[in-house]
Amino acid sequence: MSEPVYRLEGVTKVYNSRLVLNIEALDIMRGEVFGLVGPSGSGKSTLLRLLDFLELPTTGQIRFGDYVTDSNRMAPLGVRRRVTMVFQRPVLLNTTVFGNVAYGLHLRGDDQIAQRVHRVLEQVGLDSLASTPARTLSGGEMQRVALARAIVIEPAVLLLDEPTANLDPYNVGLIERIVADLNRERGTTIVLVTHNVFQAKRLAHRAGLLLDGRLIEVSEAGKFFIDPSDPRTAAFVRGEMVY
Ligand SMILES: Nc1ncnc2c1ncn2[C@@H]1O[C@H](COP(=O)(O)OP(=O)(O)O)[C@@H](O)[C@H]1O
Ligand SMILES: [Mg+2]
Repeated sequence: MSEPVYRLEGVTKVYNSRLVLNIEALDIMRGEVFGLVGPSGSGKSTLLRLLDFLELPTTGQIRFGDYVTDSNRMAPLGVRRRVTMVFQRPVLLNTTVFGNVAYGLHLRGDDQIAQRVHRVLEQVGLDSLASTPARTLSGGEMQRVALARAIVIEPAVLLLDEPTANLDPYNVGLIERIVADLNRERGTTIVLVTHNVFQAKRLAHRAGLLLDGRLIEVSEAGKFFIDPSDPRTAAFVRGEMVY
């Protein structure tokens, strides 16, 4: 029914001669929310940087539509523009909320900037702060600006790296709702990295556990969180894994 957006085959990443990621195979399906969980240092952010084409695999291939990674050549701009990442700690421009969200549209030469920016700021509950300097915002508001900046360019894929770590429950709830709505209403494919099992369970259609750079299990959410195949997944979702 659904087709893969990404197909990873034999993907490894080596840093300073240390193998930090080793994924035999992984498909991310179009329109899904894929939850990637795992302890700190297991390679989650490394995998996201590969999916964002910020870095290339050391060996193996990532297929993305008609494009296949080539370890000697960065992905073309047209490919990279279809994917956007939101980091745990947003780096905002030293300008207004509006200016931050408009920036990517300026780069793309969009001709309906104001309209698009206001629509997205409404979506994240920040339209009343459009002319506020971004640096004066709370952490939760900053993260919503980062999300707005990502959403406004209507990417095919949104990569979220621990997007709600250290935020208050109110902002966590808002961001989870924005992410779920985006997936449901626009069909945006989302890869959500989190070490919060409860968040992954609330949002993901499928989930994967990464341990020491290896995918231990990938299953439908109903199975992954309730009746996983691997004892290590069971321990992780029960919160029993020491890390
Ligand atoms: N640019 C880099 N250079 C060297 N080592 C790195 C680099 N990025 C990540 N690593 C190492 O790779 C491993 C996985 O890191 P990371 O992907 O950030 O894990 P996670 O996001 O799951 O916490 C860690 O041991 C980390 O120190
Ligand atoms: Mg990380």
